Amino acid sequence: MRIVLIGFMASGKSSVAPLLASALGLEVVEMDALIVAKAGKSIKDIFEAGGEPAFRKLEAAVAAELQNRDNVVISTGGGVVARSETMKYLTDKGVVVELSCSFDALMERIRPTLPRPLFKDEAQAKATYAKRQSLYHKYASVHVNTDGKSVDEIVEAVFRKIQGIKKS
Ligand code: S3P
Repeated sequence: MRIVLIGFMASGKSSVAPLLASALGLEVVEMDALIVAKAGKSIKDIFEAGGEPAFRKLEAAVAAELQNRDNVVISTGGGVVARSETMKYLTDKGVVVELSCSFDALMERIRPTLPRPLFKDEAQAKATYAKRQSLYHKYASVHVNTDGKSVDEIVEAVFRKIQGIKKS
C-alpha cells in the first residue's frame, strides 16, 4: 500500500506521516528531505538560487523517483499540487489523503515558523490557500478535516478511512 499525504503548509503532514506509517506497518518518506538531499542545499537556498520553478523541478524529479515505491507513506510539501506532472507520478498507484484545515487555524501554526520561502504576507498566503483548495480536493480520494483535532486523532481518522478503502 502506498499513501500520499497532501495539504497546505502546517496542515500536519509531517507529524501524521510517521505515526500513520507505523500504524500501518509502512515506511515513511519526506519529499522535502529528498529534495534537500538531491539539491545538496536547503529549501531556502533552492528558492533563493532558482526561485519556485527550480524547486518544482526538483520536486517533480523526486516524485518520479518515488513512482514505483510501495509500502510507504509519502509526506509532500504544500505546493506539490502545483504541477500535474508531479501529481501524476504520485497518484498513479497511491491513495491520496488530503489533510484540510481552516486558514485561521493554519495561520496560528505557521506564524511561529516564519519566515518561509513562499510566505510573503497573510493576504498572499490566503490567496495561495484559496487557489490550492480545489487542487487538494481534486487529487485526494480521502479527506480528513484536522480542525481542532490532535495529531493522534488525525492519524486515527485517516487510519479508519484507509481501512474502509482496503475492505471495499
Ligand atoms: C511549500 C511548502 C513547503 C515546502 C516548500 C514549498 C509550498 O512544505 O515544500 O517550502 O509551496 O507550500 P510544507 O508544506 O511541509 O511546509
